[in-house]
Amino acid sequence: MGVDIDRRLFLQFLGAGLTGATWHGTPLGPLAQPALHAAAQAAPPRSPFAGFTGIDPTSRDDLVLADGFMHDVIALWGDRLPGTNARFGYNADYTAFFPTAADGSEGVLVVNHEHLSMPEPGEVGVYLQTFPVLMGRVAEIEDELQDVGVSVLRIRRDANRRWQIVASPVTRRYDATSPMRVSGPALQRGSVAGTLANCSGCHTPWNTVLTCEENIHFFVPPDVDTTGRSRTGGRFRLDGSHYGWVVEIDPMDPEWVPVKHTLLGRFRHENVAIRAEAGRPIAAYMGDDRINGHVYKFVSERSFSPAADNRGSLLASGRLYTALFRADGTGEWRELSEASPLRPNPGSDMPAVPRGATTLGQVYADTGAIVTDAYRAANLIGATPTGRPEDVEVHPLDGSVYIAFTEAATARGSLFTNLHGEICRIREEDDVTGVRFTWMRWKAGGPNDPAQRGHVFAAPDNLSFDPNGDLWVVCDITTVRLNGDPRYTAFQNNGMFFIPASGTDAGAARQFASGPCESELTGPSWTPDRETLFLSVQHPGEGAGMRTPAMQAPRGSNWPSGRINEPPRPGVVSIHRR
Ligand code: FEO
Ligand code: CA
Ligand code: CA
Repeated sequence: MGVDIDRRLFLQFLGAGLTGATWHGTPLGPLAQPALHAAAQAAPPRSPFAGFTGIDPTSRDDLVLADGFMHDVIALWGDRLPGTNARFGYNADYTAFFPTAADGSEGVLVVNHEHLSMPEPGEVGVYLQTFPVLMGRVAEIEDELQDVGVSVLRIRRDANRRWQIVASPVTRRYDATSPMRVSGPALQRGSVAGTLANCSGCHTPWNTVLTCEENIHFFVPPDVDTTGRSRTGGRFRLDGSHYGWVVEIDPMDPEWVPVKHTLLGRFRHENVAIRAEAGRPIAAYMGDDRINGHVYKFVSERSFSPAADNRGSLLASGRLYTALFRADGTGEWRELSEASPLRPNPGSDMPAVPRGATTLGQVYADTGAIVTDAYRAANLIGATPTGRPEDVEVHPLDGSVYIAFTEAATARGSLFTNLHGEICRIREEDDVTGVRFTWMRWKAGGPNDPAQRGHVFAAPDNLSFDPNGDLWVVCDITTVRLNGDPRYTAFQNNGMFFIPASGTDAGAARQFASGPCESELTGPSWTPDRETLFLSVQHPGEGAGMRTPAMQAPRGSNWPSGRINEPPRPGVVSIHRR
């Protein structure tokens, strides 16, 4: 594809990423860094996972790993959580691990649950199909309300390096009915409860989790008016304006009521990436995962103090911006405020503009309404429609921001045209409070070339940096395209890739894992010693459902049992070297 970058340029930028100008405390300046060589030598050591021989793409109905690695299931949908009456939810996604023992053998694992794999065009609706097989009865709406949200699991590693959930006050669930609080200017009328459509998230520098509400339209009415009001309805009969937010949870404190931070905007939140340095405001970078969705940045009003109680408060006041990308590689953060001038994107989804209105404040009732309708408000101020921005991550060494665009935008004249997606990189021109940035295409998805098996990916979704800047990428080719659409045949099942940042193979993608049929691998996270990788297996069998004798891979799934006529069950696994 024309968007793929020249390898020389790639290496140049990888080098620039290894300047050692750590993003804790050093605002990024221009790329020129005379200390490049010495600083690069000081980069953290490579992860124990990095040295592997890549696998070829496959359509096996299994979690296939590179030679020398093995996995154990930690939890599957429907498993009773020890010490509770609750079960592990459906479609596990984001994971984050919080160690609680000095030897690394205990901790708390947070796992999100996203959608419920209902019948869609070309999909059987594996959730409703398999619920009776697993539970012995038909699913009620109350079951669906329980199977979304978040699981918090106290886990312990045994002598065989197998992680198991243990009973503890910390082991618990949040679902679509759990009590919630609200910060910021929106949702100030009445009470709010429940979280749903939880996609990816963020492990904050102050050790809480941000869980991100994404495709809420599967459950509630997504549209709001210019006062920020929605209606009660949808499958869950809930108020649509209450969902589509970033929710903060304290994994270690079951008594602490989660907070929906409305100043981070309401849209199809994939995840949040935080850039924090002591004594400065923090930036929270975010993507709106829809075709023609925008990229956002929240800048806190308060400065970050590691010693302060930042929980619930640091994200409660600040400013919300959305990104304008220019073809020349420059960009601008435009604030979503009442004073922001209208510069509408022609042909995009926007509310009607009152005659003579020139600012967002003359279209919307107040700031709360603007942030509640962030997608349409961003279109009103000229934010760039992009190709489904999914994970956003901050580079561990230089503070630049990487964004996975899963596919192409459809907006006229869009800069994001690669059907197979791409990973882009943003550098702030000043510190995080600035409004100018530069950007580049860092790694393109595709092409759909069987000769490059295992070295090309499509539809990049979650990203995870190793401390030395090596990058892990999991892919989300949508189920209706997987192993069917002729533009995606080379990739076979969704997989996980590694892109080294240094060495002779720097910049060359290599496949580490392949997911079961009709699944995607999501939410990679590691223990601090990098000995264990936590990974979710989401929606196995989402297209054709539970595999029967009449079906063959790549259609349908029986993961993890592998036995025909047994239900596929989404879950979370741990992976380590043998
Ligand atoms: Fe739920 Fe954007 O993936
Ligand atoms: Ca995702
Ligand atoms: Ca996705």
